[in-house]
Amino acid sequence: MKQIKGLKVTEMIHHAHIAGTGSSMPERILYNKDLESIVDTSDEWIVRRSGIRERRISSTERDESTTDLSTRASTKALEMAGVSAEELDMIVVGTVTSDRQFPSTACMVQEALDARNGVAFDVSAGCSGFLYALNVVNNAIQCGTSRTALVVGVDRLSSVINWQDRGTCVLLADGAGAVVVSSSPNEGGILSTHLKTDGRLWKLLYSSDGNAYTPDILQGLAKIPFHLKMSGSRLFKKAIECLSSISRDALKHNSLSSDEIDLVVPHQANIRIIQALANNLHIPMDKVYTNIHKYGNTSSATIPIALDEANREGRLNKGDHVLLMTFGAGLTWGASILKWSI
Ligand code: UT7
Repeated sequence: MKQIKGLKVTEMIHHAHIAGTGSSMPERILYNKDLESIVDTSDEWIVRRSGIRERRISSTERDESTTDLSTRASTKALEMAGVSAEELDMIVVGTVTSDRQFPSTACMVQEALDARNGVAFDVSAGCSGFLYALNVVNNAIQCGTSRTALVVGVDRLSSVINWQDRGTCVLLADGAGAVVVSSSPNEGGILSTHLKTDGRLWKLLYSSDGNAYTPDILQGLAKIPFHLKMSGSRLFKKAIECLSSISRDALKHNSLSSDEIDLVVPHQANIRIIQALANNLHIPMDKVYTNIHKYGNTSSATIPIALDEANREGRLNKGDHVLLMTFGAGLTWGASILKWSI
């Protein structure tokens, strides 16, 4: 109860809690050995430089579109949360590889789930799409404009990879993860989220065409649209610098020391980035969840997939402090601390 100029105002505080997690991976596994016949690379180089052993590549023939993967991940998250699709008042999808330029993947997922009672839209923030989307939902819940929301992180980077570029095609892959977020008066859930963007560095990772396209008649046959370009080693250093700094901000904001973090769920871009971050933050690797060896870098999907696997494997207990870290095209990056409540 709060007193304002003689009036008693009942002030309800809303906290955003993750109530269910889900993920969906394409069936087809592409092993490092398979890539040896596509580009000049080796299993040894890929494992040593990135930690990746295999990844999943989607096929629309197997109903593995961006919408299909998102819908499957969402259905699992809804089941775990015990929430019906009708109860969702907000669906936010972080992706850069929507099935269509419009409508958004969120609208397609809304139809697939038959979730009629909410708003649905996508967020584009490179690999950071999931955490940016989660932050939108967290803000809506804290303001009281949403009570039950779905956040999806999904990408099918296989659709924008240049399969002749060994610097990227061995790293990137497809997948989807989702969480149901519910409003609660109980403390905990998403404690804080810290996001940053530096548009001056967009050229370190981008798709070479996209909306700013030149009509076919002017561009000639040689031009291949939508190919991803990445300055790997510059991004590598930036990721470590930016994520170390923003994670320290997140810890300080919550008056937590790094040994009070029970599990780190980082963006899975490179095992060496993850190890360097753990080292900088003085967090042992057994408190860091990694699945990059089996899925590679699935962009917006890495964090919700890892969160779902950690949750289903029993790595998360009620009351645990969980540190999420994201980094991607934009450049975009961020960190969030959760007090786990499932
Ligand atoms: O998800 C969002 C953002 N993405 C990232 O954060 C990715 C960050 N970057 C990375 O993960 C790493 O920089 C890479 C895995 C991309 C590359 O690892 P690196 O240790 O930084 O290698 P490099 O780019 O410095 O290349 C070293 C050598 C080069 O050969 P030379 O010039 O030394 O002869 C590359 O041409 O490795 C070569 N190389 C490869 N060799 C075999 C690059 N890709 C490959 C490959 N197989 N696939």
